[in-house]
Amino acid sequence: MSKSVELARLIRDRAGDEPPEYGLVLGSGLGHLAQAVEGVAIPYSALAGFPHAGVSGHVPQLVIGTLEGRRVAVFAGRAHYYESGRADAMRLPLEVLKALGCTKLLLTNAAGSLRDDMQPGSVMLLSDHIAFAGTNPLIGETTEARFVPMTTAHDPEIRAGLAASARAEGVDLPEGVYCWFSGPSFETPAEIRAARVLGADAVGMSTVPEIILGRFLGLRCAAISVVTNMGAGLSDEAISHDHTKAMAPIGAAKLEKILRRFLRDGL
Ligand code: HPA
Repeated sequence: MSKSVELARLIRDRAGDEPPEYGLVLGSGLGHLAQAVEGVAIPYSALAGFPHAGVSGHVPQLVIGTLEGRRVAVFAGRAHYYESGRADAMRLPLEVLKALGCTKLLLTNAAGSLRDDMQPGSVMLLSDHIAFAGTNPLIGETTEARFVPMTTAHDPEIRAGLAASARAEGVDLPEGVYCWFSGPSFETPAEIRAARVLGADAVGMSTVPEIILGRFLGLRCAAISVVTNMGAGLSDEAISHDHTKAMAPIGAAKLEKILRRFLRDGL
């Protein structure tokens, strides 16, 4: 039996057979939504092969249960490329999600903004992305399925649903292009200017590998960024991980409103 099928069986034994409709990956400083889920929490350490995902101060866990009346699987704890040098660090968790029968994946992250009209505390819906980190989570995959079309990787229907939810909640949700840098160092001002020229609206160190893996697995994907800072050189404010964590809750409140509404209303 494959690892993911084995883990899915273990999870079903604990959390029940009903497949999650949505998988949710929570980004830096955005983990508290997991506590709102009524269900079963399983630490990654109990799931053999799951990454040792660094979330400062929190045990990374998978929470399976109900949020706004909908069955969800929430990954509170994400592994980043920069932790291991492996762009496929989230592959097993996403394979398990698929093995549980889930079909849709919502990703969240903290990001730096390249746009004056997206100040810290705002949220952005990803219309598309640029994989600027110079790698791909499917390198080494040998099946033909590795040639994943990415033309509509950010699902138009889910995006429209998220946009409608934001409107209904009175939350401004501009769309924009997210550019994936490897991290863990932040960008230089020249890199931020370059990303702008390339057509990016925000920068960050995650999410893109998970979108690629999600599409590889046939999951419908969409992602929202919470802006924690302006990109390097675009404001006088110093950029740091502590600042990211301190700022994330401001946008996280907006993100939570959108996601709750989206789950309540459905697609
Ligand atoms: N750059 C990359 N990742 C980030 C940033 C940033 O400015 N802010 C939050 N995550």
